[in-house]
Amino acid sequence: MNIVVIGAQWGDEGKGKIVDYLAGDSSVVTRFSGGANAGHTIVSGGVTYKLHLVPSGIVYPDKTVILGTGMVIDLESLFAELKTLEEQGISWRGRVLISDRAHLVFPTYKAMDLEMEKKRRHPIGTTGRGIGVAYAQKADRDGVRAGDVFNPDVWSRLREEEKAFISPYMEDLKSMLVDLVSYMAEHKTDKKLFEGAQGALLDIDTGTYPYVSSGYSIASGACAGGGIGALDIDAVYAVFKAYSTRVGNGPFPTEFDHDSEGELENKVRVTGREFGVTTGRPRRCGYLDLVALKYSCRVNSISDLVLTHLDIYDDMEEIKVCTAYEIEGKRVTDFPARVDMLEKAKPLYQTFKGWKKKIGGTKKFEDLPQKAREYVEFIEKYTETPITIISVGYERDDTMIRKPVWTR
Ligand code: IMO
Ligand code: MG
Repeated sequence: MNIVVIGAQWGDEGKGKIVDYLAGDSSVVTRFSGGANAGHTIVSGGVTYKLHLVPSGIVYPDKTVILGTGMVIDLESLFAELKTLEEQGISWRGRVLISDRAHLVFPTYKAMDLEMEKKRRHPIGTTGRGIGVAYAQKADRDGVRAGDVFNPDVWSRLREEEKAFISPYMEDLKSMLVDLVSYMAEHKTDKKLFEGAQGALLDIDTGTYPYVSSGYSIASGACAGGGIGALDIDAVYAVFKAYSTRVGNGPFPTEFDHDSEGELENKVRVTGREFGVTTGRPRRCGYLDLVALKYSCRVNSISDLVLTHLDIYDDMEEIKVCTAYEIEGKRVTDFPARVDMLEKAKPLYQTFKGWKKKIGGTKKFEDLPQKAREYVEFIEKYTETPITIISVGYERDDTMIRKPVWTR
């Protein structure tokens, strides 16, 4: 059985926490996209693990994790991350695999990333991790794949500094390589998770282009980047926050107004820990945007929504949620492709009364305050998609499951 977990917004929705939670019952977690631009946080037993390249199942001692075909991998970052995990008591040897078709990121790509950003017509605010360059090299058919460095012809054409960069990792890399398509075929009946990076609105095709990342962040990316076929996906879990955030540039219709909503913005940012895991940048914050979320549901054929950070709204007097945009005098409920339209969009809000109660530690949906349940049910109705998991805190246990996950 194959379950895909993706972000439904602009990243940072809590994918790491949810993948970690679901991984308990799975045998393998495959990251299918992105690189060290991602930052996935897991809090377990009071310990915080910050992951960029390593898939989120790693904290369990018995799970296999795979860096999939759709990823772009900086070996220096990867082995530094594995060393940190080792120092945190997590053993990884023998259970971290790398698709032989995944692409590599070289140190020069990072400098090029920042150079290209300076020349862009529309600077994006990239994380500077060389991600865009690696995907561009891949599309240009001039990239270097993890397995291909063992091809003497490919090796002989690498620059001296590239050979010097890879050499210290060759032995480990060789032992970690896997043919992902064969692996998935051999493990057909296992419970497998596919972890996305970024979010549907940062996807190269479905996101707010050009303010996007360069990989596939949508559910179908699990096929291209995770070694399975289009009919092999059994469920798509899409994680979204009770509010919205975005890092870097680009349109964000429901962003809090810094002047009139500065206090609210600060409160959400601080209680929600909305600072980038990768770059430390404060994240832009705003209300939940249901126009965008519904678009995400359509793009990803989301079977289950996963709501996170609901507790951040605990002491709010009222909660607003965007149900339509007004663009050039017209009411719009379809998410526009053009960024100028999104920039012009005036969000139309529906207001809910806050629940004014701490909900952290709640174990059952029925035990949530009625006003919190109303907010959840409104989102379900609007998106026509069930919210089957709700997270009310950072710890693995602060999670409510409304429908069994692996029995369908
Ligand atoms: P996770 O997986 C949030 C954003 C960057 C920038 C744009 C392009 O943690 O949710 P890039 O370095 O990819 O060329 O940057 O995309 N971005 C993310 N924002 N979460 C992420 O990943 C992101 N990965 C990239 O801020 O605006
Ligand atoms: Mg992040």
